[in-house]
Amino acid sequence: MLGTSTTLLTNATPRAPTSILDPYADEALLNPWPLYRELREIGPVVWLEKYGMFALTGYDAVVKALRDWEAFPSSFGMNDDMNQLLRGNTLCSDGDAHSRLRRVVMRPVTPAALKSLKEEVEREAEAVVNRLCAKGRFCATGELATHLPVTIVSSAIGLPEEGRERMMEWSIGMFNCFGPMNERARSAMPVLSEMMHYAETQAVPGKLKPGSWAEAIHHAAAAGEVPSEAVPVMMIDYMGPSLDTTIFGISSGVWLFAKHPDQWDLVRNDPSLIPAAIDEILRMEAPVQGFSRYVARDYDLDGFLLPEGSRAIVFYGAANRDPRQFPDPDRFDIRRSNAGRHMAFGAGPHGCLGVNLAKLEMRSLFMALAQKVKRFHVEAEERVLNNILRGFSKLIVTVE
Ligand code: HEM
Repeated sequence: MLGTSTTLLTNATPRAPTSILDPYADEALLNPWPLYRELREIGPVVWLEKYGMFALTGYDAVVKALRDWEAFPSSFGMNDDMNQLLRGNTLCSDGDAHSRLRRVVMRPVTPAALKSLKEEVEREAEAVVNRLCAKGRFCATGELATHLPVTIVSSAIGLPEEGRERMMEWSIGMFNCFGPMNERARSAMPVLSEMMHYAETQAVPGKLKPGSWAEAIHHAAAAGEVPSEAVPVMMIDYMGPSLDTTIFGISSGVWLFAKHPDQWDLVRNDPSLIPAAIDEILRMEAPVQGFSRYVARDYDLDGFLLPEGSRAIVFYGAANRDPRQFPDPDRFDIRRSNAGRHMAFGAGPHGCLGVNLAKLEMRSLFMALAQKVKRFHVEAEERVLNNILRGFSKLIVTVE
């Protein structure tokens, strides 16, 4: 394993144990589960020496931090450069200001609003599945999972055509910037700046698709619902998290079903299990592994002091494998009764507002696949190395 030193810091209330484990090392990103297990065994909260931040890996600790936004505000991310660029967008704001932004960004992706997209999503899902199954061999990331987000979703967002082909790169880069200031984050900073520049200069009235989600943000600013200076960073709320998250959720699902044909048989025999299967996929392979929170006041977390002014990394992916919450957590079992309690979409006031859209896309694709595919076979796979995201850059499969 990667090596551990567990010591108690001195000073008044017990401080958290410390560790030299590095959750952002390549090998840990590729296979984080042993490291999460080790951190959880050290304690509910562990000081990561390398990054000068606390790691929360237990389910209860993660839920506590996510629900208590006053003690753990989200406005200060893991590093200061990223904070400066994205300050004031939905994820990076708190309290009333956050609620105002969230209400506007969420409007087109509520279950009621999504009814108008549902038919189109289902039709496209069926079409892409038919086309790829006829080929028999395809990339489950590049050809299958990418299709709905880059066609339907990015068209609904309504950004100008020109430059939109950069969205995937921006999104991947943005997530790297949400991590600690390591080489991955440093080299992605110019990508995030480019994304912000596009939002400021191209996502503007006159250039946006009429009736689109992006245009609605400008309307909300004109109506005084949100401050006009927040508009460019609010564009990032759609441009950043709406693509790769869902893409990785879909291709991880294909990978899991290829590795566990018995679970795919259950789905094929009874497609009503698909919503539960989606939760189990996201529990096992959370596309967003962790974000951070600022510690706004001295906080006693299960007997350990988190001092005011420190930062905590909240590992959703680790919480999802906490055996105290999910017995035998490394087993992929779509009939788990509690899989829906996973943390892949976070929790509390910042819990993912795109959850219904993501689930609609995943459900439609797996429904279509269940009609057509008897078996998936993985021929080649390559994982993305990203500070926040977990998923496949390449997943070549053949289908029976
Ligand atoms: C499987 C797909 C997805 C996953 C796993 C995912 C995961 C997450 C997570 C973990 C958070 C942070 C929650 C927190 O800090 O507590 C989040 C927030 C967010 N997500 Fe998603 N997401 C997905 C899809 C989407 C989509 C399709 C959209 C597009 C509308 C979206 C938009 C957002 C926004 C705007 C936030 C910030 C919410 C806030 O701060 O109030 N996400 N998501």
